[in-house]
Amino acid sequence: MDRKEFLSLISFGSIGTAMVCAGCSKSVNAGTTGSSSVDFTLDISNAANSALQTEGGYLFSNNVLVARTSGGEFVAVQQFCTHEKFQLVYQYAQHRFYCDGHNGTFSEAGTVTGGPPPRSLKTYNTSLNGNMLHVYS
Ligand code: FES
Repeated sequence: MDRKEFLSLISFGSIGTAMVCAGCSKSVNAGTTGSSSVDFTLDISNAANSALQTEGGYLFSNNVLVARTSGGEFVAVQQFCTHEKFQLVYQYAQHRFYCDGHNGTFSEAGTVTGGPPPRSLKTYNTSLNGNMLHVYS
């Protein structure tokens, strides 16, 4: 291999790497908007969903964070932060969703209340019928 061939290979490799990195970056950001189509049901009497039997409890399902608030109501928002896609937690005592990525905070209605998140969380409807909690867009 002569110098010209070597430089050509290095050059191609760099372009290939840049393309992969651009793809990675795009896929990371793609999840910050939340799914526009959600439709699933959770049986809250099932042990796997027992977190929702108690006020302040929450779980993740289908890329959605489902929480039971202090009034016993259910709220459902996208699972990942609108900033850089870190997973959210529900903070019952503060009545908010929190992202430890960069200390982003959101109200229970999904509105940004602090930190760098650029937009509100996508929220979903909930409806309880007996023990069956329907979560839908
Ligand atoms: S990723 Fe949530 S605040 Fe940055």
